[in-house]
Amino acid sequence: MPIFDTHAHYDSGGFNADRDAVLSALPAAGVGLVVDPGCDVESSRAAVSLAEKYAHVYAAVGLHPEDCGGCIDADFDAIRELCRHEKVVAIGEIGLDYYWAENPPKEFQQAVFRRQLEMAVELDLPVIVHDREAHGDSLAIVLEYPKVRGVFHCFSGSPEMAAELLKRGWYLGFDGPITYKNARRAPEVAAITPLERMVVETDAPYLTPVPFRGKRNDSRYLPYVIEKLAVWKGISPEEMTDITWKNGLRLFGLEGKA
Ligand code: NI
Repeated sequence: MPIFDTHAHYDSGGFNADRDAVLSALPAAGVGLVVDPGCDVESSRAAVSLAEKYAHVYAAVGLHPEDCGGCIDADFDAIRELCRHEKVVAIGEIGLDYYWAENPPKEFQQAVFRRQLEMAVELDLPVIVHDREAHGDSLAIVLEYPKVRGVFHCFSGSPEMAAELLKRGWYLGFDGPITYKNARRAPEVAAITPLERMVVETDAPYLTPVPFRGKRNDSRYLPYVIEKLAVWKGISPEEMTDITWKNGLRLFGLEGKA
């Protein structure tokens, strides 16, 4: 089975020089599906345009915590409208990012996050959650919405937090950082995560796995993440590819469609 990259930002400026060349090359390189999550209204629209252009690309739409500063009702309305598009499979990426001091205030990020989780309930869509240095608040807020399911992208919380999410039907995303030498918690999290709740992501153009760390990331480097995860789970890379493909289809409601 081909690879499903459940999180790649091909709408990003990092692909301005060769976006079409990279996206066109993916199927022949073994990458069968990609979900491109937007980070604001403009990039969400761009993600939808790529999904319209490429059969193997689907979009998610949402307001990212780093990019939500100053967002107004019209932005939420635009995201809600984009959700009606047939190739939009999730609301994302949304969440909390307390890492950068210049990010919007925590209370504002939380309000934007909650509003999009409410939208996910209303529209019955899964969500793609970005949680950086905000584990306690991210978990507490998603638990306020027991009907919402989705994926914690590039999960970096504790095994205890992972267990709480897994118990409630969430998926966990594994990315390039699991190949880094200092990956400390990731093996512990992988150990307690059932195979059927794992998805693999590039977060391209960011988070490039070893041995290409420092270069621009794209979905063709995802086998390095798959290999690492397969070793940790004691299965072959081919099995991991197949399982994460099926998981991605289930997570985004694409079974029987893609
Ligand atoms: Ni991302």
